[in-house]
Amino acid sequence: MVQPEAKEIGLTTVASTFERPDANSQTDEVALEIRDFKVYYETPRGTVPAVDGVSFNLKQGERFALVGESGSGKSTLAMGLMRLTRPPGHVAGGTAKLHGTELTGLTEEEMRKIRLSQMALVPQGAMNSLNPVMRVGKQVVDGIVDHLPEGEPKPSKREMTARVHELLDRVGLQPMVAQLYPHELSGGMKQRVAMAIAISLSPSVIIADEPTSALDVIVQRQIMQTLGRLQEGLNASVLLVGHDMGLVAQFADTVGVMYAGKLVEVAPVRTMFNNPIHAYPRLLIDSIPTMDAKKRLVGIPGMQPSLLNLPPGDAFAPRSPLKFKPEDALVEPKLVEVEPGHWVQLSRSSVEDFDKYAHLVDY
Ligand SMILES: Nc1ncnc2c1ncn2[C@@H]1O[C@H](COP(=O)(O)OP(=O)(O)OP(=O)(O)O)[C@@H](O)[C@H]1O
Ligand SMILES: [Mg+2]
Repeated sequence: MVQPEAKEIGLTTVASTFERPDANSQTDEVALEIRDFKVYYETPRGTVPAVDGVSFNLKQGERFALVGESGSGKSTLAMGLMRLTRPPGHVAGGTAKLHGTELTGLTEEEMRKIRLSQMALVPQGAMNSLNPVMRVGKQVVDGIVDHLPEGEPKPSKREMTARVHELLDRVGLQPMVAQLYPHELSGGMKQRVAMAIAISLSPSVIIADEPTSALDVIVQRQIMQTLGRLQEGLNASVLLVGHDMGLVAQFADTVGVMYAGKLVEVAPVRTMFNNPIHAYPRLLIDSIPTMDAKKRLVGIPGMQPSLLNLPPGDAFAPRSPLKFKPEDALVEPKLVEVEPGHWVQLSRSSVEDFDKYAHLVDY
């Protein structure tokens, strides 16, 4: 496919695809092991269980996309894993191990050293969080100096300039961008700068929260290509947060779908698209527009429930298109591995073929 020419100044090469040439470069080694992770917000109206018992493994070299509607808890999870949750939010339970090191038990100083050097976040809206009165190069340098691992000497000014230029090159920006201020850059270029800062200390895990939102489709593609190249270059694991199933499908090895603070299904990308089991991912996939004129666009009926007032049992039941007995919806569903690598939150109210899996649960 011929790529449109990169019109933005300061941009270097644009690869032709962001799909993975060799999806087998992931290993079975677990980079990040998340178990029953909970992040709650204490508000005057009550506790908001924004992330409520999320468990999954991010393998070394894996590209894991986390999708779900606005408000389903994706950013809250990303921030919680980075230990960047701010009051009134707090990590309310669970564990998150990075290469075996339990993150929830670390001191703030220990965690600060891990950020960037081992696990980096490109936060949601990163391109708007650059300092408007500081040149881009200086912002990259500050990130490096702040998070240098213990014992590593501070690089000389010359070494630092070379490092900044190399980082800019890796995200497809020319060296001259270091001299510019954020307002002189396009949205896509700012997002690239945020990615350069995130990879500046070669982390093994990169969490990218909606890195392409507010960008046009061509720039979205370029940013995903860049993220793919960075992931491959570092053999890093990527947790990509997004809500566009179509976009993440081309990038991810594995897709996890969140609904109201919980994972409802996790599967290898092909399985997720060919054989989704839970009603919510099924509807999300059916709602992706295609060029097939015969396909009618399907929306998801109803609204996501308020997290302050979740229905008991299966939170998706009020929107489920399936027929079920009212008492079926009241059972608290469990996330169960139905086949290797394919996890589903099983409930009679949201899983059409529930009887096929009934032997896996005790309800
Ligand atoms: N500071 C806060 N105080 C109270 N509730 C909060 C706070 N921040 C987030 N929430 C609530 O937590 C829930 C999850 O929010 P979060 O930002 O994690 O969702 P998201 O999946 O990232 O959504 P989006 O796709 O819009 O980025 C929402 O219901 C939100 O209202
Ligand atoms: Mg978010």
